[in-house]
Amino acid sequence: MAATRTQLSQAYPLGSRLDADGRLQLGGCDAVELAREFGTPAYIVVEEDLRERARAFVDAFRARTSDFDVLFASKAFPCTAVLRVLAEEGIACDVASGGELALALRGGFDPERIYLHGNAKSEDELRLARASGVGHVVLDNADEIERLEAVVTSSPPTTPQRVLLRVTPDVRGETHAAISTGQADSKFGFSMAGAPAAIERVRGSAALELVGLHLHIGSQIFELDPFRRAIEAIAPLGDFGVVNLGGGLGVAYTAGPEPPRIADYVAAKVDTVERVLGSGKRILDEPGRALVANSTVTLYTVQSVKRNVSTWVAVDGGMSDNLRPMLYGSVYEAQIADRFGGGTPARLAGKHCESGDVIVCEAELADPRVGDVIVTPATGAYGHAMANNYNGVPRPPVVFVHDGDARVVVRRETYEDLFARDA
Ligand SMILES: Cc1ncc(COP(=O)(O)O)c(C=O)c1O
Repeated sequence: MAATRTQLSQAYPLGSRLDADGRLQLGGCDAVELAREFGTPAYIVVEEDLRERARAFVDAFRARTSDFDVLFASKAFPCTAVLRVLAEEGIACDVASGGELALALRGGFDPERIYLHGNAKSEDELRLARASGVGHVVLDNADEIERLEAVVTSSPPTTPQRVLLRVTPDVRGETHAAISTGQADSKFGFSMAGAPAAIERVRGSAALELVGLHLHIGSQIFELDPFRRAIEAIAPLGDFGVVNLGGGLGVAYTAGPEPPRIADYVAAKVDTVERVLGSGKRILDEPGRALVANSTVTLYTVQSVKRNVSTWVAVDGGMSDNLRPMLYGSVYEAQIADRFGGGTPARLAGKHCESGDVIVCEAELADPRVGDVIVTPATGAYGHAMANNYNGVPRPPVVFVHDGDARVVVRRETYEDLFARDA
């Protein structure tokens, strides 16, 4: 993937640059002008970045195997326009709720290539999946086996539902506990001890057709070895035609350590499947973060600069548009969109009524002033997805930029939206 990043860290969308006056350009658009036109906070998505990363995943798989599918873990950026772009690029879709399923259908994914996940799927969600013709349900627990069987047999079509069985391989990647899912004591999937009985149970069901296994060990993982060990761990469970290896590839949020290349991540997984499970398997992968995180930046406007023990630069957003720093201490970087560089150590604070509402604890800004446009890169994954209305703050718009054009794909919420559901 080619990228121009003169003086920009690896966290910025592909093709971003600083112009001769030091102003940030995204998808051919000036960031400060975007802030003026669309207001702040705003998520700015570089469409070409989304497409290039999707192609990088597909190309990497195609280079190693002929039978594969790349699924977008839509929880990372559940936005119709993003889904539409990825569907256009030939990506399939992982959904983890009825709502994500509705979005995936609206985004144009073929229902056959949608996989329904979740550790607490309701009967309504399973019925929606059946009615929509969802290709695969990923079974998480024994109660769900009963529930899905009842749904399949109680209303047409009564053809068996294809399923995968999610197993927890008891392998930990190095990541925050909140996003680690492969350990034995996880709320997700069947344990290694419980999996054989579940496999037998599903194989004996007339309503379900077991096609393979699924695993997902967690998110924001930089080492490839845990991915390999997880595949090795499930080998004793038997021979299946399909194996879904989950997502988890880490991304760059800052200038810090470089994540593995997509091609290396794919090679590690495919080679391990072939070595351990045998050749001829259909391999599925479910990247979320690695497909969308770096496509997007958030723009804010500085509302105040206060100096006490620290310098506090307060902006017009915060934990309502980026919850990750507050949820699990995620580290982001920040810059002034038309004055890159350091100089003033600062805490980039949000506008919310919690002391923990700090977007970047250790920012370095160039003499920050009220009215400056601040940019935080790598907000495409789990940003819009986790946005909320704390303090009655309307959620930001999503704006696509491409070749110098900008268009709103999700409008900014209004105060009227805040009481739209009042009964
Ligand atoms: C089942 C499953 N697959 C894929 C993903 C995507 O993970 P990531 O965004 O780290 O690629 C997740 C994330 O939570 C998940 O739960």
